[in-house]
Amino acid sequence: MTIDELTQIKATALAELAAAKTPDEVEALRIKYLGAKNGLLPALMKQLKDVPPADKPQMGKELNALRTAVTDALQAAKDASSSAGEAVEPFDFSLPGNWTKAGAMHPVSSVIEETTRIFAQLGFTVADGPDMETEFNNFDALNTAKHHPSRDERDTFWLADGNLLRTQTSPVQIRAMLATKPPVRIINPGRCYRRDTTDATHAANFHQIEGLYVDVKPVSLADLKSTLAHFAREMMGPNVKVRFRPHFFPFTEPSVEVDFSCHLCHGKGCRVCKQSGWIEIAGAGIVDTRVFKHIGYPEDCYGFAFGMGVERIAMIKHGITDLRHLYTNDLRYLKQFV
Ligand code: DAH
Repeated sequence: MTIDELTQIKATALAELAAAKTPDEVEALRIKYLGAKNGLLPALMKQLKDVPPADKPQMGKELNALRTAVTDALQAAKDASSSAGEAVEPFDFSLPGNWTKAGAMHPVSSVIEETTRIFAQLGFTVADGPDMETEFNNFDALNTAKHHPSRDERDTFWLADGNLLRTQTSPVQIRAMLATKPPVRIINPGRCYRRDTTDATHAANFHQIEGLYVDVKPVSLADLKSTLAHFAREMMGPNVKVRFRPHFFPFTEPSVEVDFSCHLCHGKGCRVCKQSGWIEIAGAGIVDTRVFKHIGYPEDCYGFAFGMGVERIAMIKHGITDLRHLYTNDLRYLKQFV
């Protein structure tokens, strides 16, 4: 072993390490040069004892320097090879981000949620009922005459077993009263079904929100009006006006139809309110005592009830002129209301 040989070994080792690309190649060189069993440098170290004593210090120093140089070069080669796969590519920070799309509520759902929130503040709880109803709950108990046109096959989806797809959320009034004693204060959002031909304001499947308040103390039309006026202001803003028009429903006496002033034109007349300045939102009234009788409820009760069209509210709130837009699920359209 001579100094020249060591210089030669060093040059070769550094050249090989500089050329090593993969972690495997680097590891092979580590074994070749530093491996404890057959590595070149440990073998040279062992030969040091045979070097003449006069040359030993010099040779020892050279050997140590060689080992340090090879060890450092190995480490450098190792670092370079492990990051080689993930070569740093120039990154364009102006590229659009990779967003996770957040979902948003459908206008119909947000009207339902907002309505239940407003009525919850007044002490109403949410009741539920099935889409498939009995004839008793949907018609008989609600005092609907046997030959009332709404029972007709052309209006109602009858099922083979004599049940039907509920035409209104009003049967939930019956379910709620049968389940609890007065006072009853419930709100029920749900789907309804009618054999209607779909057009800009009608759909065979739509949503209503039913409300019922029954108590053992007198409940008047003024209570109904103030409740619905409060709801209207919360839902549409403080300037909305509410109007009651006399009407007929089999299960309320007196009965009214409830209009809100048009949210878009503030009563001036526009496309959405068909120039009238008003939009029909709900049917309502004082619960007819015959309804209490039909279900064996105490007849000295008093109550008011109402049923509102959810799509109607969504349409005036957002200025939607065709109800079908709510159900074609074109995100470009629905996103406007988020
Ligand atoms: N169920 C009626 C309809 O679909 C709306 C309605 C009217 C509900 C009067 C009521 C009510 O609770 O009292 O046309």
